Amino acid sequence: MSNKLDASYWQSRYENNQAGWDLGAASKPIVEYVNQLTDKNLSILIPGCGNAHEAEYLFKKGFKNVKVIDLAAAPLENLKKRVPDFPESQLIQGDFFELNQQFDLIIEQTLFCAIDPVLRAEYVQKASELLKPNGKFVGLLFNREFESGPPFGGNKDEYLNYFSPCFQNIEMEICHNSVAPRSGTELFFIAKGIKNLV
Ligand SMILES: C[S@@+](CC[C@H](N)C(=O)[O-])C[C@H]1O[C@@H](n2cnc3c(N)ncnc32)[C@H](O)[C@@H]1O
Repeated sequence: MSNKLDASYWQSRYENNQAGWDLGAASKPIVEYVNQLTDKNLSILIPGCGNAHEAEYLFKKGFKNVKVIDLAAAPLENLKKRVPDFPESQLIQGDFFELNQQFDLIIEQTLFCAIDPVLRAEYVQKASELLKPNGKFVGLLFNREFESGPPFGGNKDEYLNYFSPCFQNIEMEICHNSVAPRSGTELFFIAKGIKNLV
């Protein structure tokens, strides 16, 4: 991993109140996706969860098998304070790239754009490895460029190059229900894992 974007970098962003990506609530496209899920037993991973408003939303909706992972301790502490019932064993302070479990659903929001772009192929490959057969990788990606990152931008063609070898039935379209400041600049995707990829 790039030394710059390590745990202490992210921890200091939270400590210095430089977490401008934090929406303060679960993001609308993810809320709407979650609202149509019926199986409350799904095992769900939210990598690079940050303050984990989406995990809070899921947990309070009855999805109890939700795991979150983040390099930084501060946002996980914040989740614990807001949702004291959230099981400690489902809060992981660590590196997504070192995780070694499988899930039915992985939800992406502003982790992909936060990692060093040289790691993008590895990130997508890792997400596919962490899915159970036929599991789903779902979330949001920026469809724009930034002057410097993080966040690092990109576009659908670039992302499909990473996704196509690792996923099937990839849907990736302009997001119609982004939060206002991101309106028109996000892609919403749903990608199905390939059975026996690894
Ligand atoms: C831009 S923030 C997004 C946080 C959250 N997803 C949100 O939307 O508010 C990126 C988050 O990913 C975490 N992160 C970066 N690299 C990571 C990695 N390799 N493994 C786990 N978490 C990581 C950072 O600590 C930070 O909390």
